[in-house]
Amino acid sequence: MPRDGAKKLTIERNPNPVAASEREALLQNPGFGRVYTDHMATIRYSEARGWHDGKIGPRSAFNLDPSTLVLHYAQEIFEGMKAYRWPAGGATLFRPDANARRFHNSAVRLAMAPLPEELFLESVRALVRVDKDWIPTADGASLYLRPFMIATEAVLGVKPSADYLFCVIASPVGSYFKGGAPAVTLWISEDYTRAAPGGTGDAKCGGNYAASLAAQAEAIREGCDQVVFLDAVERRWVEELGGMNIFFVFDNGSVQTPPLSGTILPGITRDSLITIARDLGLTVREEPYAIEQWQLDAESGRLREAFACGTAAVVTPIGKVKGRKRNFTIADGGAGPVTGRLKAALLDVQFGRAADRHGWIDRLF
Ligand code: PLP
Ligand code: COI
Repeated sequence: MPRDGAKKLTIERNPNPVAASEREALLQNPGFGRVYTDHMATIRYSEARGWHDGKIGPRSAFNLDPSTLVLHYAQEIFEGMKAYRWPAGGATLFRPDANARRFHNSAVRLAMAPLPEELFLESVRALVRVDKDWIPTADGASLYLRPFMIATEAVLGVKPSADYLFCVIASPVGSYFKGGAPAVTLWISEDYTRAAPGGTGDAKCGGNYAASLAAQAEAIREGCDQVVFLDAVERRWVEELGGMNIFFVFDNGSVQTPPLSGTILPGITRDSLITIARDLGLTVREEPYAIEQWQLDAESGRLREAFACGTAAVVTPIGKVKGRKRNFTIADGGAGPVTGRLKAALLDVQFGRAADRHGWIDRLF
């Protein structure tokens, strides 16, 4: 494989795939991230050889030396995307080029060797084609794809690794929230922040999620589903959830989401919903929103709806917000009509029921 070129990956079929009957049973109710396909994509990087040994092979465990850099200093990045089986036939990816670009940006931020975007796309597409029987057919279900890259040099000095392993695994999924949650309750994190200016908040690296877990555990203890993080400087501006961006819908029909300030993840769902909302004639503002204003607006009725969005969560209504000093409900605490319209419009494009006006669909077969 040339250093930066996209040559075909070699394909080694799993000699012991899951039996068709067992696979069909697993696909009935897969939950989120518990069931895996038969194969994975891997590509290695070394300073001497560049990207090499690209292949689709049987899904298997890694053999890592205990001193491997990623195990100590968390030099790791990942992506989340989905393959959709269209009711009319075939399967597609949604804006995979945007995931490839974000992965590239995350690699640069984590001082890792950036994977050429064509190679990222080629490995994701090849894996889904080999594991195509794992793309669920159930309504709303999809094949979640998890490309990731780890630092594999075995050395304890703190430095960027000289070697990397890129890998893509695939997992058939239904809803991210148990029982398909009609609306979630958020916990306002006051003790913990997710990202600071100059940090890694806008990169998709494992460390961000490790740092969010104490707050997430607190949310669960408080009977909430997810954390909403505030900015690290003033502890006032709503940023995002642990794994989702956030939107607000007002009584004049306008929609607002926090701006990409460097401390929140530039979500591809967020970006798509901004475009879809504008296509639907809604006014969309990318502006900061203060937590105290959120409560005032919810209590006065000026705020009508709020929702979280992301690849895993799709569009999930937010019903209640709790914190040490706050406790408020948004409208009647259920799913609102604008949220419903935006969700339906997004899913209609993703599942091929609406025209692809923006060139977002990548057809696999
Ligand atoms: N914010 C965070 C912290 C996330 O982990 C995710 C999920 O990937 C998102 C936002 C939404 O991003 P996307 O819509 O690209 O999945
Ligand atoms: C995704 O939506 O793809 C994510 O990575 C977020 C995580 C909560 C699963």
